[in-house]
Amino acid sequence: MQMTPANTILDIVNKEIETLQFDASPKSLFEPISYILSLGGKRIRPVLTLLSCEMLGGKPKDAISTALAIEVFHNFTLLHDDLMDKAAIRRGKATVHKKWNDNTAVLSGDAMLIASYHLIAKNKRKHLKELLHLFSQTATEICCGQQLDMEFESREDVTEEEYIEMIRLKTAVLLGCSLKSGAIIADASEKDADLLYNFGINLGLAFQLKDDLLDVYGDSKKFGKNIGGDIASNKKTFLLINALKAESTREELQSWIRKENFVRKEKVKAVTAIFNELKLKELSESRIEDYYEKAISCLEQLDVPEKKKKELYEIASGLSYRKS
Ligand code: IPE
Ligand code: IPE
Ligand code: MG
Ligand code: MG
Ligand code: MG
Repeated sequence: MQMTPANTILDIVNKEIETLQFDASPKSLFEPISYILSLGGKRIRPVLTLLSCEMLGGKPKDAISTALAIEVFHNFTLLHDDLMDKAAIRRGKATVHKKWNDNTAVLSGDAMLIASYHLIAKNKRKHLKELLHLFSQTATEICCGQQLDMEFESREDVTEEEYIEMIRLKTAVLLGCSLKSGAIIADASEKDADLLYNFGINLGLAFQLKDDLLDVYGDSKKFGKNIGGDIASNKKTFLLINALKAESTREELQSWIRKENFVRKEKVKAVTAIFNELKLKELSESRIEDYYEKAISCLEQLDVPEKKKKELYEIASGLSYRKS
């Protein structure tokens, strides 16, 4: 049987998200939820869930509520992340904590987290225990990753290894969870479910490396976020960690990192110039390629006819080489 094309799956996801009702009272709690969901985004995670379910012989419709749960959960993390990162723009529009206020971002986010559990709970009893375990473990790991991300802001000795573990936790595990959930619902073998999980992990590492690269080199209109936020807040990205290794620019870089008062534009320009001088964009791109290749190798080992994997191969290259 032919696989449903990814763009048809995306249409299904978009329609299903529109049916979610967040119009209860008080409006001040639920409106921000409708707002963030109305801004769209790539919706890559629910697409991965439905594709993996179909690819492994399940019915995509059986995975819909889990796919929605994961997208609602992802959007919840964005509300809290933007607050923590002091980000003003998301998907080209004002972030929830800017449009409303900090407390709204916290509480509407909490309501979304709860809504995501409601959606997971719609699964058949047969799969519920395993799905709940995976989802809860993933959610806890994301908290760990986000905590490390914040702690790393004030450290100058973060290693590349620590960075990779941090982005595995804050970003990659949700991609792994999206794919593995689809596999669980399809009653796939443990081996295939784990291969898909590891495909998601490696793809997620490439994805976050690319996100960090776009935060410096992206086009803010396409990316939908302000450029330079990571530099402004001393995020220990792959770029900054590697820049700190170079002796020739270390003093200048450290002086920018340690400045309490600075003009954001000037800091972003100066630090970007250091990244350019050290050719770190190229280094980062080669690391993205490495994780992309690792992801592909997991997909190759999957016990499914190659033609059924086409959509996932395309998504993997699309995400690793994306501009938004
Ligand atoms: C943003 O995720 C948060 C990261 C993990 C980098 P996406 O880039 O998937 O955001 P949307 O949902 O497409 O807006
Ligand atoms: C976000 O990482 C990870 C989560 C939301 C859990 P970032 O902070 O880099 O994501 P963006 O760039 O704000 O989307
Ligand atoms: Mg952020
Ligand atoms: Mg963040
Ligand atoms: Mg980012």
